[in-house]
Amino acid sequence: MNIQWYPGHMTKAKRAMKEDIKLIDLIIELVDARVPFSSRNPDIDEMGRQKARLILLNKADLASDKGNEAWTAYFRDRGVEAVKVDSRSRAGLKQIQAAVLNACREKTERDRKRGILNRPVRAMVVGIPNVGKSTFINSYAGKACAKTGNRPGVTRGNQWIRLNKSLELLDTPGILWPRFESREVGLHLALIGSINDEILDREELAAELIMLLSEKYPGILQERYGEEIQESRDVSQAAAALQDIAAARGCVGKGGQYDLKKAANLLLDDYRSGRLGRITLEFPPEHRKEE
Ligand code: G4P
Repeated sequence: MNIQWYPGHMTKAKRAMKEDIKLIDLIIELVDARVPFSSRNPDIDEMGRQKARLILLNKADLASDKGNEAWTAYFRDRGVEAVKVDSRSRAGLKQIQAAVLNACREKTERDRKRGILNRPVRAMVVGIPNVGKSTFINSYAGKACAKTGNRPGVTRGNQWIRLNKSLELLDTPGILWPRFESREVGLHLALIGSINDEILDREELAAELIMLLSEKYPGILQERYGEEIQESRDVSQAAAALQDIAAARGCVGKGGQYDLKKAANLLLDDYRSGRLGRITLEFPPEHRKEE
C-alpha cells in the first residue's frame, strides 16, 4: 500500500477513525515489534480515550526476544495489555483472548451491573500502513469466521466478524498515519520499509543501518557477510562497509566497479526479511542502558 500523507488525507482518515471508534469497545492497535515507538501513532491515545486498549507487537518473529519482552513489560507497566504476535505464522494468537478479557474487564463489569450479560466485545484493528493489519485479521479471524452482516450505523463496507461468542471484529482496519516528528522516527520507519523508499536514497539508508547495527548488534554484519566487513559508527566508514558488502556478495557493475546500490538493496532486504537476524531497533526508555 502506498499512501501519501498530505494533510487532507490525514484529516479524512482521522474523521473516518473517529466514526468507527464510536462503534467499538476495544481498540486493537498493531505496532511493529522492531520499532514499537516509531510505528505507533499517539493520536490514537487521544481518539480512543474512553475505550479499552490492546497493543499487539506484530512481526515479533523479526524482533529480538529481549526487545519483545521489554516492550510487553513496558506497556503492561503502564496499564495497557500487550501481546507479541507473528501474524504470518499465527504464533501468539492464542494469548489474545485472555488479553482481550483483561482489557475489557471494566466494561464487562459495568455491563454486568446494568444487567447486561454476555454482550460480545466489539473491536477494531488499527495501525500505520504495512504493520500487518490485513494479515492479522485474516490469520485471527481465519476461514471459519462468520460475518454477521451489515448493521445500521456501520460505515458502508464495514462488517462485523464474529470471532467467538465474546468478541466481534470490524472487518476493515483503521489506517493510522505514520508520525513524522523526528529524523530518527523517519529513519526507523524507512528501515522497516514502511515509508515509500523510492523517495529515499537507498545507499544512505543502508549506511544508516550499518551504523545502527554496528552500535547495537556488533558482529552481526560479519556473521552474515564475512569477517572482512568493517564495523562503523560514522558515515564515511559506513560507506566503506557497504563497499565491503558489495565485494563479499559480488555486487559489481558493468565497468567492474562496485555496485553500491545493489549492495544497499541486498542489505536492506536481508534486514527486512529477518535474514540478518531478529533485530529490534528501539527499546523502551528505561531499557536503553541494557541494549
Ligand atoms: P497492512 O494491512 O497493515 O498494510 O499490512 P499487511 O497485512 O499488508 O502486511 C504487510 C507485510 O507484512 C506483508 O508482507 C505481510 O506478509 C507482512 N507481515 C504481516 N504480519 C507479519 C508478521 O507477523 N511477521 C512477518 N515476518 N511479516 C508479517 P509483504 O511482503 O508485503 O507481502 P507478502 O510477501 O506476505 O505477500
